[in-house]
Amino acid sequence: MHFESDRITRLILAASKKAHRETGASPDSRIVKIVEWPVTCTVGPGLEGAIACESKVGYVNGAQGGLSYRGYDIFDLCAHSNYEEVCFLLLIGNLPSKAELRGFSDKLRDYLHIPDVLRQLAGFPIERMNPMAALRLGTNLMRHEQTDLDFLRGKADEAKIGTDEDSIPMETLPRGEEHAIYEFRRRQPIRDRNLAACCRLISGVASMAAAIARMREGHLPLAPDPELSYAGNVLYMTSGERPSAEETRIMDVALILHADHGMNASTFAALVVASTLADVYSSVSAGIGALTGPLHGGANEQVMHMLRGIGSVANVKPWVKATLAEKKRVMGFGHRVYKVYDPRARVLAPLAALSGRGKVANKGLFQIAAALETEIASRLGKKGIFPNVDFYSGLVYTGLGISERMFTPMFAVSRVAGWTARILEYLKNNRIFRPRVMYSGAVDRHYVPIAARRPARRKKR
Ligand code: ACO
Repeated sequence: MHFESDRITRLILAASKKAHRETGASPDSRIVKIVEWPVTCTVGPGLEGAIACESKVGYVNGAQGGLSYRGYDIFDLCAHSNYEEVCFLLLIGNLPSKAELRGFSDKLRDYLHIPDVLRQLAGFPIERMNPMAALRLGTNLMRHEQTDLDFLRGKADEAKIGTDEDSIPMETLPRGEEHAIYEFRRRQPIRDRNLAACCRLISGVASMAAAIARMREGHLPLAPDPELSYAGNVLYMTSGERPSAEETRIMDVALILHADHGMNASTFAALVVASTLADVYSSVSAGIGALTGPLHGGANEQVMHMLRGIGSVANVKPWVKATLAEKKRVMGFGHRVYKVYDPRARVLAPLAALSGRGKVANKGLFQIAAALETEIASRLGKKGIFPNVDFYSGLVYTGLGISERMFTPMFAVSRVAGWTARILEYLKNNRIFRPRVMYSGAVDRHYVPIAARRPARRKKR
């Protein structure tokens, strides 16, 4: 499939070989075919070990450093597939035929056109906003736009249906995905309607991220180029320059690698919102919110600040010593699930080296990153701390001309596929998420009128 980028395919296959050699490739005996609820599990703080739901979308093998989407190994997908195909796989469950892929890719390309949303977005001070906040805003604007359109289109034959799903009499619909439909044209089966909203979001978030990048630099948003692939358009609509075949392929692989990752914080956030039967736009907006934090997707930007702060390979050792002595976290390292090398970092590392070659913005940073990896692995490897997906992704993005503030939005551009695939799956048999807390506060206190209260004594630190 990728003649011009055989070199990249070779790098991915070499990374795959190394992964299998170092962490094993035996099938995981923990995969269960039939889940019988209730399940028993041991739960730690931060819901560590808790099983939120059952899923067939993707699997993270933390002990062996494995990742698969719908049963396909991530290394194989990076080597042989493309992002459009991976979106189809995640959402629908199988690889598409040639005709299906063509139709699906055309649809995603069409949905990159969101001029009305971008016009509304341009009414806000985007250049002064946090880009992830702007992306959340845009996602909510997409919902409004769709609602209005649906109303206009559906008015003639759907007079009884309002513009907001909240106005549908709930008792007339069975529980499950029917509650959460977003587009109301009756001629379309419900599953297709949800699917269309998911595809709109996948492309819409990409167009918005590209537009936000441009608006932040005082440029107007660009329309997609029908000649370019999805990855090519993400780069083109961000920078205004047609990317090379190699740049397109690197972006494509980065998109694939970030598309889905088990019950991570942002996916869980998106599912929690979806489980209330809120619409998929609000759910994705919640996912974007959760991804923002530096302990999750926001780490990629922090890694670049850290590498620049370290400044030189010679400074790596003293920097690590001081940082660990102060018990600070090293950004881009560690993971709740992986206790071995993250397979995504295995692919991103050589791509970072490749995309950064000769680029002023990356000068010396890859060497610092590689030295930092060696130093952290030697000190913390025994604790299972290795580079995660965010460690090298910023260097890849920088090499592709994407600015630091746009790293986490670019992560969101990929992850919408996973969020929406898992929302679609979960809504088929929806149950609202509602865990418990263990109350450890005061009991049996007697209410004291305000006039009789003494100031509370503060605990000495
Ligand atoms: N640097 C130094 N020490 C670390 C790091 C790190 N990055 N990560 C974990 N540790 C240490 C902890 O100090 C702790 O040590 P201790 O047992 O001696 O106290 C031990 O490893 C376990 O740490 P936890 O906090 O229990 O790990 P948790 O699973 O809660 O956190 C997380 C995972 C948030 C990813 C953590 O590793 C971290 O903060 N990493 C840096 C931020 C980052 O890169 N985030 C992106 C993750 S990938 C993603 O979300 C897309």
